[in-house]
Amino acid sequence: MAEIQVIMTVNGKAVEARVEPRTLLIHFLREQLNLTGPHIGCDTSHCGACTVDLDGKSVKSCTMFAVQANGADILTIEGMAAPDGKLHVLQEAFREMHGLQCGFCTPGMIVRAHRLLQENPNPSEEAIRAGISGNLCRCTGYQNIVKAIAYAAAQINGVPFREAAE
Ligand code: FES
Ligand code: FES
Repeated sequence: MAEIQVIMTVNGKAVEARVEPRTLLIHFLREQLNLTGPHIGCDTSHCGACTVDLDGKSVKSCTMFAVQANGADILTIEGMAAPDGKLHVLQEAFREMHGLQCGFCTPGMIVRAHRLLQENPNPSEEAIRAGISGNLCRCTGYQNIVKAIAYAAAQINGVPFREAAE
């Protein structure tokens, strides 16, 4: 199949590659760019494990072709930490608040949470739950994921973290 040239920015770096038109963005990221943080957890566009940030929106990278991302600015979990390796506040928050168990959903969950906090820097518990409703977790029961995102929001806003009553 004829390949098509694509140019995009991925985690702050310019990327130029040739892809088959049928290549999904998730396969391009994982197999051609070796960015294996975004996961494939379903074949029905339900789980959100493949979530990346694309031009300021959370997208499920299994639902679009790589050629549709031509010219886009993409962030994956690999681009969240600082260049010196210091973890992003959300990554620290997930660690601190035990927001993961097996970790399969975590890359997509954190990238989604990052966009959620851009959209709403001070979300209520309800807004956090609604904001991550496209990302499924089979382990945690979500409680500590919600707590981790609220904790990260408090850190970013420089206010004390107050745990919601259970
Ligand atoms: S792999 Fe499940 S939504 Fe993309
Ligand atoms: S931590 Fe296992 S799927 Fe979320």
